[in-house]
Amino acid sequence: MTTDFAFEFKSESNGARLGEISTPRGEIRTPAFMPVGTAATVKGMYPDQVRETGADIILGNTYHLMLRPGAERVAHLGGLHKFANWSRPILTDSGGFQVMSLAKLRKLDEKGVSFKSHIDGSKHMLTPERSIEIQTLLGADIQMQLDECVALPSTREDIQRAMELSIRWAERSKNAFGTQPGRALFGIVQGGDQEDLRLRSAQALTEIGFKGYAVGGLAVGEPQETMFEVLDYTTPALPQDRPRYLMGVGKPDDLLGAVKRGIDMFDCVHPTRAGRHGHAYTKYGVINLKNARHKDDARPLDETSSNPNCQIYQRAYLHHLIRANEMLGAMILSQINLAYYQTLMQGMRDAIAADRFDDFAAETREGWAKGDI
Ligand code: GUN
Repeated sequence: MTTDFAFEFKSESNGARLGEISTPRGEIRTPAFMPVGTAATVKGMYPDQVRETGADIILGNTYHLMLRPGAERVAHLGGLHKFANWSRPILTDSGGFQVMSLAKLRKLDEKGVSFKSHIDGSKHMLTPERSIEIQTLLGADIQMQLDECVALPSTREDIQRAMELSIRWAERSKNAFGTQPGRALFGIVQGGDQEDLRLRSAQALTEIGFKGYAVGGLAVGEPQETMFEVLDYTTPALPQDRPRYLMGVGKPDDLLGAVKRGIDMFDCVHPTRAGRHGHAYTKYGVINLKNARHKDDARPLDETSSNPNCQIYQRAYLHHLIRANEMLGAMILSQINLAYYQTLMQGMRDAIAADRFDDFAAETREGWAKGDI
């Protein structure tokens, strides 16, 4: 087992990259999908089950964990890996993005962002330095710089101001991170839908120097086409030999398109959230189990799937669980969706290794287009 953090770029197929990140806590096969474990749990899933779906790494959130149960408490209890019973790598987001979407009475200036907790109204401050301190206390293997993400559409002035601030915060985050053997700090490219601003951000972050680079400020209200255009000019501006992480994305079709454009890592609440709402991802597309058409349907979701949950349970039973708001419904569908996502990632990795990524993407999309039978 390695003692350091390293990325090996293995091969490429029509723009899609196959690689592997090594960390002392295990390997991360890329392209990788990271299930979101916001509050030290991937909602509705046991850690062993998350691993069984094929996940190499999960994500945690600075914002949520600093408020509850508190970073110092988690550190005293042995760190986030022990606390959550997940021994493999963990990536933590830096908190800025969640402050902007969840906290009350936010105030952002050069120093950082002060806000009131959405849980109890208590006052807090996140600076680049405090965010790194929290992520280090949690014991995160991959830490993210504090940044400012603006929604789209925004004015060019707002996009530029947030991007420049994020560069200055990147520098401060790097100084605060210092050297942590076996762990990595990633910079976050901002710049909205403005090509020159994205290029300026990518270049400035590359000069500061990070072990990986995230593309932030996407999936914030823009159409998929805009997101793909931004990736078309942003990923070529990032170092080839470092992992690239597209934050907060996405649906399966977004993952295919972003891997094609050179992205290596993803996270998104979508598969677990959609599962809790009764949506099941299958190779025939999304099946909405809330729909009354399933109430007498004795068939399983997909008997061709290798996932036992897709073979065992009748659609009528899943429909009933979701309609009755039973926990097990959310649990089964979260498992089915995370397993679907990990199978998709494995399919992409195999296809890149065989240099047939475009064919794989086309076949996968054809399957979704068939629709549910
Ligand atoms: N999650 C989704 N988008 C972003 C972003 O732009 N910045 C951060 N820190 N987290 C995100």
